[in-house]
Amino acid sequence: MKYDAEITEIKRLSTDVEDFCARNSLNKDVEFALNLVLEEIFANICLHGYNGKGGKVDVEMSKSGGVIRIEISDGAPEFNPLSQAPAPDLISGIEEREIGGLGVHFIKNFTDEVSYKRLSGKNVLTILKNIPQMLEVKNLKIKFNSGGSSFEAVKGISFRVDKGESVAIVGESGSGKTVSAMSITRLLPPKPACEIEGEIFWENQNVLKLGAKELQKIRGAKISYIFQEPSASLNPVFSVGYQIAEAVKLHFPGVKNVKGEVVKALKEVGIRNAEERYNAYPHELSGGMQQRVMIAMALACRPDLLIADEPTTALDVTIQKQIIDLLKDVRKKRNMALMLITHNFGIISGLCDRVIVMFRGRIVEEGSTSQILKNPKHPYTKALISCIPHLGQKSRKLNSIDYSQIEAEQ
Ligand SMILES: Nc1ncnc2c1ncn2[C@@H]1O[C@H](COP(=O)(O)OP(=O)(O)OP(=O)(O)O)[C@@H](O)[C@H]1O
Ligand SMILES: [Mg+2]
Repeated sequence: MKYDAEITEIKRLSTDVEDFCARNSLNKDVEFALNLVLEEIFANICLHGYNGKGGKVDVEMSKSGGVIRIEISDGAPEFNPLSQAPAPDLISGIEEREIGGLGVHFIKNFTDEVSYKRLSGKNVLTILKNIPQMLEVKNLKIKFNSGGSSFEAVKGISFRVDKGESVAIVGESGSGKTVSAMSITRLLPPKPACEIEGEIFWENQNVLKLGAKELQKIRGAKISYIFQEPSASLNPVFSVGYQIAEAVKLHFPGVKNVKGEVVKALKEVGIRNAEERYNAYPHELSGGMQQRVMIAMALACRPDLLIADEPTTALDVTIQKQIIDLLKDVRKKRNMALMLITHNFGIISGLCDRVIVMFRGRIVEEGSTSQILKNPKHPYTKALISCIPHLGQKSRKLNSIDYSQIEAEQ
């Protein structure tokens, strides 16, 4: 049959799409849409006679945040299929359409929204773009200076967190997780003690260039934090209710019944007798309760992004589980994005969609949680995953991390 080769090629692409979607936990809707796009591209390539020249089209898909990139390599370098058909034509006829799960749209007006670039012999076509742009960090570098010497804690990292997404940042102690998180709302010491380079966009505004007033609108109100040690973050001389009320008043000066809001927030994090607890001082509460108060304080401002830095490390295991379940529950109810910083791969699955692995100030690996857990690539990630204790396993030696091997493989 005349089109045998084309049919085989489309089938191959469709299997690739299926694998790609499974690896990235993308739902059937996205799979359908991607197939549609690839068929369209392929049909256009055939139409322009590319296949007739005996070349092979190699399609490579990747996902970062809400953006899916399709790279099309032309087997015959002297012939560029896309240059025969301008990029917009390749995806013409595809309707704008919302895709579940990712919250992405096909872009109808591709001249503005779809970038088409030819990069070092490859055609890169960005076909899906996330509409609700939230946090985007680009080439972030953080340097500390003291006593004439300086130390680069973060060496050029880029990542994004999309609306409603849940991302874990894992990495060894000192890899730069906390300082990266703190730089997002400029909580680090000012210059010259600390120098920050790069760009941090919050809803398309560069946070590093904002004035104090604009920054205040983001801090706490749009992005809230929970830190590891609740006792260090709560002020011992004020009641917990008072402290949450202060946060509410600062960010929502118009609220009439502040106490009512605080009690509601305490109830939402599972604190019983919330009215009575309002007047309790931090030392009167257990560690787990204090962490719930911290979460209530962070949530009282209805943030779009919650940054939780080792929120369960100081707690015992049963309380850890309650806090994780609470975060899961709140995320679902509010469609709030979460950036969870942890060493513990055990708490990531079930709570985070995506994992970013940091090692010595750099991002060394990124992918969907299931993909990273099943098939970790970086030696540090492999070592961390092999440290997860498994139920039902009798005695098992914990693997220590062999840094010389990691460095050799880098
Ligand atoms: N204020 C500061 N002044 C100087 N150096 C700092 C400061 N804050 C952090 N650092 C250094 O920056 C590096 C990154 O620290 P960071 O707290 O981000 O690590 P981390 O990945 O969060 O580690 P952990 O898992 O132990 O919390 C460390 O070497 C730390 O000593
Ligand atoms: Mg830290």
